[in-house]
Amino acid sequence: MSKIFDLTGKVALVTGASSGLGLHFARTLSANGAAVAVTARRRDRLESLVNEIQAAGGKAAAIAMDVTAGDSVRAGYAEAEAALGPIDVVVNNAGISIVKPALEMPEATWDEVVNTNLRGAWLVAQTAAQHMTAARRAGRIINIASILGLRTIGQVAPYNAAKAGLLHLTRALAMEWARHGIQVNAISPGYIETEMNDAFWQTPAGQRLIERVPQRRLGKPAHLDGALLLLASDAGTFMTGANIVVDGGHTVNSL
Ligand SMILES: NC(=O)c1ccc[n+]([C@@H]2O[C@H](COP(=O)([O-])OP(=O)(O)OC[C@H]3O[C@@H](n4cnc5c(N)ncnc54)[C@H](OP(=O)(O)O)[C@@H]3O)[C@@H](O)[C@H]2O)c1
Repeated sequence: MSKIFDLTGKVALVTGASSGLGLHFARTLSANGAAVAVTARRRDRLESLVNEIQAAGGKAAAIAMDVTAGDSVRAGYAEAEAALGPIDVVVNNAGISIVKPALEMPEATWDEVVNTNLRGAWLVAQTAAQHMTAARRAGRIINIASILGLRTIGQVAPYNAAKAGLLHLTRALAMEWARHGIQVNAISPGYIETEMNDAFWQTPAGQRLIERVPQRRLGKPAHLDGALLLLASDAGTFMTGANIVVDGGHTVNSL
């Protein structure tokens, strides 16, 4: 039964793989048999991940890609396919959040956040689908959204809007590309502990947020592995346009 999650022979591309969840997703996909193109702007960080994967017997390539620039996305995607072969699974993970009250939000901050989280995911998805359809190959696109695309918190208005947009984009592309055998799904993580936000969870504000999670704990990157592998593998063959919420019950708490 576990074979239905196996990715041996598949090629995956992960955006934002230089830290946090993207780095973890790359490790998980590799551990389950996929060759992985790891992409981000900080290529130096990607090299050490590639070395780690190769040392463990896996196959990987480090590719510089800025998801906010169409030229960079298209060049990086082509470079990844030249290195590893046709890509079967794309994980649209690159994302940023900038905290500022909406009344004071500079125009440039809005653009930066929406361009990375929404327009960037769109550019990567479109490029992927163009390659997949040209090669008449099926594929999977997995968009990393957030529970903040379903509910809101203060001071991150463009992030809230971009993640809500990404969830609807997931449904729109799922409908349009099903005929090509391309499945488009989303994962909406709740609060996941990564190196980046570690210190915040020790603060009183961080502790108050944890108290609103029914499971009374933060997620760990590994808690997303099941959803990721389901959407990437044969186990998820009949799924498209779906959003898997992995949040310890956070979104069912209306407080
Ligand atoms: N951690 C959580 O609790 C949580 C919860 C819900 C959703 N998420 C989502 O999960 C994803 C990963 O978050 P994280 O917590 O792992 O954040 P993170 O550690 O800050 O990682 C973000 C990644 O995105 C990349 N990135 C940023 N701007 C980019 C750009 N213009 N082009 C290409 N790559 C870019 C960064 O790499 P470079 O700087 O090297 O380019 C980095 O690898 C995001 O989409 C986030 O919204 C996270």
